[in-house]
Amino acid sequence: MARHLITSAIPYINGVKHLGNLVGSQLPADLYARYLRARGHEVLFLCATDEHGTPAELAAAKAGKPVAEYCAEMHGVQSELARGFRLSFDHFGRSSSDQNRRLTQHLAVKLFEAGLIEERSERQVYSVADGRFLPDRYIEGTCPNCGYDKARGDQCENCTKQLDPTDLINPRSAISGSTELEVRETKHLYLMQSKLRDRLAAWIDEQEDWPVLTTSIARKWLFDGEGLQDRGITRDLDWGIPVQFEGAPWTGMEGKVFYVWFDAPIEYIACAAEWAEAQGKPDAQWERWWRTGRGADDVRYTQFMGKDNVPFHTLSFPATLIGSGEDWKLVDYIKSFNYLNYDGGQFSTSQGRGVFMDDALELLPADYWRWWLLSRAPENSDSEFTWENFQGGVNKDLADVLGNFVSRVTKFCRSKFGEAVPEGGDWGDPERQLIADLSEGLARYEAAMEAIAVRRAAQELRALWVLGNEYLQQAAPWAAHKEDPARAAAIIRLALNLIPVYAELSAPFIPDAADTLRAAMKSKAGWPADMEAALRTLPPGHGFEVPEMLFRKITDEERDTWQARFAGGRG
Ligand code: 2FM
Ligand code: ZN
Repeated sequence: MARHLITSAIPYINGVKHLGNLVGSQLPADLYARYLRARGHEVLFLCATDEHGTPAELAAAKAGKPVAEYCAEMHGVQSELARGFRLSFDHFGRSSSDQNRRLTQHLAVKLFEAGLIEERSERQVYSVADGRFLPDRYIEGTCPNCGYDKARGDQCENCTKQLDPTDLINPRSAISGSTELEVRETKHLYLMQSKLRDRLAAWIDEQEDWPVLTTSIARKWLFDGEGLQDRGITRDLDWGIPVQFEGAPWTGMEGKVFYVWFDAPIEYIACAAEWAEAQGKPDAQWERWWRTGRGADDVRYTQFMGKDNVPFHTLSFPATLIGSGEDWKLVDYIKSFNYLNYDGGQFSTSQGRGVFMDDALELLPADYWRWWLLSRAPENSDSEFTWENFQGGVNKDLADVLGNFVSRVTKFCRSKFGEAVPEGGDWGDPERQLIADLSEGLARYEAAMEAIAVRRAAQELRALWVLGNEYLQQAAPWAAHKEDPARAAAIIRLALNLIPVYAELSAPFIPDAADTLRAAMKSKAGWPADMEAALRTLPPGHGFEVPEMLFRKITDEERDTWQARFAGGRG
């Protein structure tokens, strides 16, 4: 048994997330958290809303609400959707929390004391038409690195290079489109990341088991061109964590806040503090997850995120933690994802293109989406959602394989033996073979889960469901029952016992179906450590109920209706 800290990239507050966001961090993080808990590990699984910066300000303005009120409301909406998708966070925090404000200000002071923060007079883009300084992401233009013409001032979405707005070629305001931009002087704090380059590089070199997608992005920004750049960590904005506070070692920073990308990852830590407070636990309880001198030495910390977040998690956030000189726990493993595309294009929040979390739950229960998204997760390359793929995946995997097995076994038993596990008969070679095959398949499934190989884990789980169906097909209890009812009883006893085993193994992917199966079989067996013993758990005479249809099929008509409904965007 080990202790696992798991965080998912924290979603921006400005609106409901789409399925591409979900599958790129929160959902696989939940899969892993559920698996580790099922294996008896101690898990702290944290996520939060990313509430600062211009996106929140602008979304609030659009909604005609004060930004604090807007964020509180949207946090409620996102929490509700997270519950709907059964995301099993131990705490779903807010980056606007007091804990995050205190910790962000504390770390900035530590970095300053370590000589890693410097004041610089900066020339910043001011939009005359909009009457304000334009924050990075509200300046668009051409990327100097790759030529992409819709690069944002903070990062190029195309080549992942972290940018400063003044790097952009042909800049324009993303708010008004105006090109009437001026550069004005303003004072800001800079984090001297360049001074930390060697320590960061040494730390990245230690990460031999990290995916190449992760380390190659980190190395690129460490060494390419002029190497790791110092970063401005403050902005001229109202909404955010104030830079001028009591005890701050600098002056004249009134009206400025920390850059959202400086405080967002710190929320991973603050969220643990929020969790402790919400649970009425003392600070020592969250510190044992985060401070190596206070118990976090034996924690394994895994982060989940989309590939565009990798530079911030491999460089910027570790720079903050290492640079502070304090004993903060660093990430042990970063699991990053490519993009999920939607029907021949990209999911897009700004254009309302694709299926969003609230739409999805309106159409079908969470398990349908969880299964499809996880089993097709964009791990090694981008993957694509189409309504046809979705229909095919749900119908073939969930309804035809798992659902069909459960339904055939329980209904056959009810009609021939009643709603209790039948007695009589013995297991023979087919059963021994099945147990051997299941044991091997289980070992492969566990290995995939330990490696967070999400698609492979889904395939291995499906293969276990297929084994049950194939066994049933070959053992043919309906035929055996005519000649030798005891033999049929032995087959069905085994098959009924497989249902709670499937429930436990499938729960990380499809937790609601797993609960339905546990309730129907009146059994919550726990993870099958020994397959043969697990398949003897329900004794003869143990009562059960035939479960409601576990998964229904998506009809062609539904598929076409949904495709047409979502073709126009959310408006
Ligand atoms: O890309 C995003 O959705 C960001 N809100 C992720 C932030 S993750 C971390 F830094 F907290
Ligand atoms: Zn680029």
